[in-house]
Amino acid sequence: MNRIKFNKDVYVHIKELSSTNDKADELLRQNHQPCVVQADIQTNGRGRLGKVWQSLKGNLFVSFGVEIKPQATAHLAVIAGLAGCDAVQHFLPNAKAEIKWPNDVLVQEKKIAGILIEHSFDDFWVFGFGINIENFPENINQRYECTALNIFAKNVSEDEVLEKLVENFEKYLNIYQKEGYEPLKKSYLDKAFRYGKRVQIKVNERMVEGVFSALTEDGRIILKSGDNLQSVIAGEMLIKKE
Ligand code: BTN
Repeated sequence: MNRIKFNKDVYVHIKELSSTNDKADELLRQNHQPCVVQADIQTNGRGRLGKVWQSLKGNLFVSFGVEIKPQATAHLAVIAGLAGCDAVQHFLPNAKAEIKWPNDVLVQEKKIAGILIEHSFDDFWVFGFGINIENFPENINQRYECTALNIFAKNVSEDEVLEKLVENFEKYLNIYQKEGYEPLKKSYLDKAFRYGKRVQIKVNERMVEGVFSALTEDGRIILKSGDNLQSVIAGEMLIKKE
């Protein structure tokens, strides 16, 4: 398996795009090569579960086109969550960045980054990262608050964050290719928000509740409630209890 590396010649930086994920998908289909697509402005940024991603000025919007054959699709969220969390953590010596399952990044229980992973074709995948650096949406909804890197660290630039993100994304992709999911699972759980604690996950219109006890081999989250174990593959873990 070849080492995954995003060389400078696969970078595209465009002032305005509807969504960097769409452009990365288009480039993958054209070239069958890895790519990195950054935009200063997104006019139609999207998030997980059909949500809108507000693309505010001064934040990082970047998508990576990658060729990878995961043993389970949910492993991709673990790789990306680790990369996003470590990139944010690098600029926060006095605060802890955490991964909220499956792959939001939180600081002090506020969302600072989100990741949208989409299948392109064959073994090609698009990983889109939105990292709040200068701005964050206020009163986005009742369920959680947001924050931005420069609340904690002054004058961090998009380029600096992108450099750390590329470094960490390459690192975790290559650990996965060489050593598999097990070492990543361990690192993920070390950084996981509310690991070992009671959580609520909204799965479609249903609420699932229990203690966040483990991740399965195929990347599902296991919730324990008394003697009952249930696993969830996709949903939204709530920050505030409902
Ligand atoms: C989420 O938290 O729901 C995921 C948000 C992902 C946002 C990023 S910004 C760059 C890329 N382009 C998009 O349209 N979405 C992702």
